[in-house]
Amino acid sequence: MTPKAHIGNGAPDAGVVGAGAAVIRRAGRGDLDAIDQIEAASFTVDRFARRNLARLLGSASAVFLIAEREGRAVGYVLLLFRRGAKAARLYSLAVQPRSRGAGVASALVQAAARCAIERGCDRLRLEVRASNGAAVRLYEGEGFKILKRSPGYYVDGETALHMELRVDKRKDRLR
Ligand SMILES: CC(C)(COP(=O)(O)OP(=O)(O)OC[C@H]1O[C@@H](n2cnc3c(N)ncnc32)[C@H](O)[C@@H]1OP(=O)(O)O)[C@@H](O)C(=O)NCCC(=O)NCCS
Repeated sequence: MTPKAHIGNGAPDAGVVGAGAAVIRRAGRGDLDAIDQIEAASFTVDRFARRNLARLLGSASAVFLIAEREGRAVGYVLLLFRRGAKAARLYSLAVQPRSRGAGVASALVQAAARCAIERGCDRLRLEVRASNGAAVRLYEGEGFKILKRSPGYYVDGETALHMELRVDKRKDRLR
């Protein structure tokens, strides 16, 4: 798949890591409003309460990466890590509606994969609603494979797809 956003090779933990159409950087507590706004514009169900976002922004086991275009936050990805675990969890991802279709999510997934590698993980895992075709196609395009399906996984009874990306085997293909 061809990225429309360009990301540099820097480390997400080191601050600003990209140039061009989208810049990916590590988020801090000061980004709560921006992330909350992206969340509100992106989800009607499965939405994080603001207090939960605030808690996660202060958690040592969570990493938020933010995508900026022209200095404005347009998307974010949330990763969760567990001490000693080789699998990182891609827990949430969203892009502002007006900024979609430009490769921002693709760039965030790539940055998430690099972040997982830097933290010593060899895979990224996630769950996604089976009906979320845009997200499923995005993840498949980035190399995620479906591990299994869980009917009734979500509170409304919807099926979850459990997906995994072997980041150790994708290293050379990350932009
Ligand atoms: C899913 C989402 C993150 C995609 O963001 P985006 O920045 O528009 O995605 P990109 O432009 O990086 O697209 C990358 C790939 O994803 C797939 N994709 C993205 N949007 C799509 C759509 N509406 N329909 C089908 N495929 C889509 C395509 O394969 C695309 O590659 P292509 O442009 O080469 O065809 C965005 O639609 C969103 O925020 N949705 C609401 C929140 C959500 O569902 N998050 C994911 C579940 S946690």
